[in-house]
Amino acid sequence: MVKLAILASGNGTNAQRISEYFAGNEQVSVDCIIYNKRDAYVAERAKKLGVTSHYFGRADFYSNGNVLRYLQEREIDWVILAGFLWLVPEDMLKAFPNRIINIHPALLPKYGGKGMYGHHVHEAVIANKEKESGITIHIVDDQYDRGLTLFQAKCSLTDADTPDTLADKIHLLEQEYFPVVIEKTVLK
Ligand code: GAR
Repeated sequence: MVKLAILASGNGTNAQRISEYFAGNEQVSVDCIIYNKRDAYVAERAKKLGVTSHYFGRADFYSNGNVLRYLQEREIDWVILAGFLWLVPEDMLKAFPNRIINIHPALLPKYGGKGMYGHHVHEAVIANKEKESGITIHIVDDQYDRGLTLFQAKCSLTDADTPDTLADKIHLLEQEYFPVVIEKTVLK
């Protein structure tokens, strides 16, 4: 069994979709959802889904090794960043070499980097009157939104689109493709 840990920071629609997709799968399982904001709605979703969840703070992630130890004790094979906004530290990159996957709500390398997340991305795309946007699923390295691209999907935009309608389009792409791309990648 390939064991996934999902790291999330907020709402958790991707974490939920991935958990539901792999429920009952004989080769891949979502072992846990861990999150770094105490009031993140993803914790509620995890509870409803019956998936183990766990809160961690900045020190657990960056200095005392608690998150890494937690993942290693649970024998996690792949780490999935699903709406997770902190840069991944060196020790974790080393422990999971090319085994951390992120989703970004734009067509990288455009609209990536520090501060470019969630609605900030959609607002920038609309402000620049882009004709298309999309999602990028990529391997995580030591910089924001930079590692090897595994997959992109596009959606087109018209003058009538707003950050909210774009967010809806992106959401649909994420729900459709993220679990499938994870499955293909981890079973390769
Ligand atoms: C998703 O749209 C994801 O692509 C984005 O945050 C949202 C989280 O939604 N990630 C980033 O912006 C990473 N830079 P969710 O919590 O409902 O899954």
